[in-house]
Amino acid sequence: MTNPSLLILAGDGIGPEVMAEVRKIIDWYGAKRGVTFDVSEDLVGGCAYDKHGTPLHDDTMAKAQEVDAVLLGAVGGPKYDSLDFSVKPERGLLRLRKEMDLYANLRPAQCFDALADFSSLKKDVVAGLDIMIVRELTSGVYFGEPRGIFKEGNERVGINTQRYTESEIERVARSAFELARKRGNKLCSMEKANVMESGVLWREVVQRIGDTEYPDVELSHMYADAGAMQLTRWPKQFDVIVTDNLFGDLLSDLAAMLTGSLGMLPSASLGAPMANGRPKALYEPVHGSAPDIAGQGKANPIACILSFAMALRYSFDMGAEADRVEGAVAKVLADGLRTADLMGPEGGAPVSTGQMGDAIVTALDASL
Ligand code: IPM
Ligand code: MG
Repeated sequence: MTNPSLLILAGDGIGPEVMAEVRKIIDWYGAKRGVTFDVSEDLVGGCAYDKHGTPLHDDTMAKAQEVDAVLLGAVGGPKYDSLDFSVKPERGLLRLRKEMDLYANLRPAQCFDALADFSSLKKDVVAGLDIMIVRELTSGVYFGEPRGIFKEGNERVGINTQRYTESEIERVARSAFELARKRGNKLCSMEKANVMESGVLWREVVQRIGDTEYPDVELSHMYADAGAMQLTRWPKQFDVIVTDNLFGDLLSDLAAMLTGSLGMLPSASLGAPMANGRPKALYEPVHGSAPDIAGQGKANPIACILSFAMALRYSFDMGAEADRVEGAVAKVLADGLRTADLMGPEGGAPVSTGQMGDAIVTALDASL
C-alpha cells in the first residue's frame, strides 16, 4: 500500500510557524503509530508571488490536484495590500478552492471546557458548545459574474453577483445533511430569502433535499441576520448550520469568537470523491496570517494542529486518531497551557508556539 500523501502549503505570516508544529505531529505518527505520510511542500500566497509573480504557480496547482490532502497555513500580509486584485495572496487560496472544486467547507466551533471562561459571552452560554458550520465555498458572490469596477456615466460602479445553481445548492446541502446524521441530526439552513432570489431558491432546494432524501433529519430555516443574532443569544440551539459562501464567511468568524479565540479553530474544505474514494480535500485554520505577531513565537498552533486532525478524520478514515489529537489538545489546555492569544485580562505567562506543539506531542505520548 502506498503512503498517504500530503502537500503542505505553509504560506505567509504565522503560517510557517504553526505548520512547523503540525510537522511534529506528523513525525510523531511516523515514529509512534507506524503511519508515514509522504509530505511535500510548496508555496502559496505572498511568498509564491515573491518567487514566481503569482500567488499560486501552475505546478503547485497540479500537485494539489494529485495528493490525498492539502494542508494550508495562512496567506496575506500588509506588504501585498497594494497589489492588483488578480495577484493578491488571497487569490492563491481562492484558486485552490475553485479548481479543486472544494464546495463544502466544514467549520466546527467547539468550546473546550478549559476555555469556557475565556469567551466574551457568559460561561453557561458557551460551555460544552459544539456546532458545525457548513459553508458553500466555490460559488455565490465570491465567484459570480459579472464582477468588476465599471464606468457608468460619469462615475464608477462596483459590481459583484450572487449566483447559485440548483445543483450547487443540492451538493452542499447533502454534505450538511450527511454530517447532521453523524451528529445531533439537526440542520439549520441560513439565507436571506426575504430579500434575495438566490435565497428563495436556496431555501426551496434545501427543503426538497431534506424531504426526499433526509426526512429523518430535523430541518429548519433562518434568515442569516436572525441566525447571527441567535448564534450569540443561545448558540447551543444549533447542531449543523448550512449557508452560502459570504454568509458562511461572516457567521463562521462569529461562531469562532464564541469559543474564545480564532487561534483554536480548524476547517476542512471537501470536494467530490477522487478515484481512490477519498474526497478532494484542503485543511486550514480559520485564522489568517497575523502579520503583527509573525516570527515571534507567539502564534497559537492549535487551529492548524486540529486541521490536521480533521484530515485524519475526513481524508484518511482515522477517526480514532483524530480523537487522539483532539484529546491531546484538550489535555494541554486543561493543564493550563496558554499561548498569548488565550491570556485573559488577568495576564500570566504564555507559552510559545513551539512549547505548545511540544506539549501536545507529550500528551500524544501519554495517550498510548
Ligand atoms: C476565510 C477567509 C477567506 C475568505 C479570505 C482569506 C479569502 O476570510 O477563509 O474565511 O474570505 O474566504
Ligand atoms: Mg473569513
